[in-house]
Amino acid sequence: MENRTVVISPEQLAAQAAVCENIKAYWAAQNRTPRAFVDTYGCQQNEADSERIRGMLVSCGYEIVDTEEGADCIVINTCAIREHAETRVFGNVGALVHTKNRHPGQKIFLCGCMAGQPHVVERIKKSYHHVDGVFNPHQLWRFPELLQYVLKTNKRIFAAEDSAGNIAEGIPVVRSNNLKAWVSIMYGCNNFCSYCIVPYVRGRERSRKPEEILEEVRELVAAGYKDITLLGQNVNSYGKDLDCGVDFADLMADIASLPGQFWLRFMTSHPKDASKKLFDTIAKYPKICNQFHLPFQSGNDRVLKAMNRHYDSAQYLSLVEYGRSVMPDLVLTSDVIVGFPGETEEEFEDTIKLIEKVRYDALFTFIFSPRQGTPAAKMDDPTPKEEKNRRFDRLCEVQNRISQEIHSAYIGKTMCVLVDGREEDSLTARTEGGRLVRIAGDDGLIGQFIDVRITDCTTWSLVGETE
Ligand code: SAH
Ligand code: SF4
Ligand code: F3S
Repeated sequence: MENRTVVISPEQLAAQAAVCENIKAYWAAQNRTPRAFVDTYGCQQNEADSERIRGMLVSCGYEIVDTEEGADCIVINTCAIREHAETRVFGNVGALVHTKNRHPGQKIFLCGCMAGQPHVVERIKKSYHHVDGVFNPHQLWRFPELLQYVLKTNKRIFAAEDSAGNIAEGIPVVRSNNLKAWVSIMYGCNNFCSYCIVPYVRGRERSRKPEEILEEVRELVAAGYKDITLLGQNVNSYGKDLDCGVDFADLMADIASLPGQFWLRFMTSHPKDASKKLFDTIAKYPKICNQFHLPFQSGNDRVLKAMNRHYDSAQYLSLVEYGRSVMPDLVLTSDVIVGFPGETEEEFEDTIKLIEKVRYDALFTFIFSPRQGTPAAKMDDPTPKEEKNRRFDRLCEVQNRISQEIHSAYIGKTMCVLVDGREEDSLTARTEGGRLVRIAGDDGLIGQFIDVRITDCTTWSLVGETE
């Protein structure tokens, strides 16, 4: 594999745009508006990619619908992070045989991180004949060309060659929300944590140019977006590949200096690269939310080493301490894995101790899932499944108690929230720290920053009333 980022040229992208026009004309000649359904699994990176897939489909004349039934084109954007995610996708893709029988012209594509694994591509090729096309994350920008091939020839296409990755600017995008926007600032990952599939399916770290990112955020703010999240697998590595003297903290400072009222967030940070400068920058700029998602994965140093994480629990705790010293109201969330191969009961207890010390607002908890091709999948794993489940339940219990305690402490406080939608009879809103708040009120408040008094809470959310 060539270890170099490829920049997709404006000419190559213009050629794809021309293909979109051809597809549009193909449907216009049949006098109908085709329908497309994009189904997304996995993380925000995939959500952001799906917004681009929808953008390309709209450029090809498709109307975006929210069901596979009767759709002319279905795109399944998949996640490979754990076995469970893959099993769900295989089940759902299998069921599409019937949907396609009812609508024989339907074209089905599978893309995303599962398509970055050769054994998955082989399985689709062999056993899922109703899938017309597969493309991995590196081929996403070529989707119009792949769609045209399938429409014209009725043949299947597999675009899944391995690559170090590319950067394609200017792909059309249809965003799924008009207040909150994802902005990918970099792609790929170089860290090779021993359990993780991401570096294999998404290629090497590559950063977008600061001016491209600033321009995108400027446009979003002008269009009325209020909550902007910068995305990358390890945003702290931003800029290392560019040699332009701008690191992640500098980029955040530049974005937070843009005019307009908006909140700026980011995810995810790797503790080995989280710098004091970054915490200081977050503390300095009011638009940057005092929120940090800082995955620790394990509280035990042997396990952290086996995970190839390049920090120990003491270094992690000192980062948290520094963050809180410059932002006493910092909202901290994290990811943790239980049942990593060989994790003993004592090692697991170290994870519980770290959680009790840090007291996270919320945790994303996972049971280790072996991923083919990663070093951890080959490690001895004598702990029975039942024992891992027990550890998982205990961890959730501890965290739920802490979340409930932290949320209870909000009661009586007045906080600024961004009202972002409605669920049944209440409005939904987010605090600067990303906590969900339900409030009574009318739809006119949607899109506004307002002060609310917190009156009640659950483990997962807060209840507030307008002042
Ligand atoms: N780049 C981000 C994480 C992306 S994956 C980071 O490094 O923080 C999101 C989370 O999934 C990880 O933080 C980890 O907790 C979990 N995860 C990744 N691979 C896993 C595996 N094989 N089994 C269980 N959980 C896993
Ligand atoms: Fe996976 Fe580690 Fe990269 Fe995160 S930093 S995407 S966990 S390899
Ligand atoms: Fe899944 Fe790929 Fe994201 S594996 S978690 S969709 S980067």
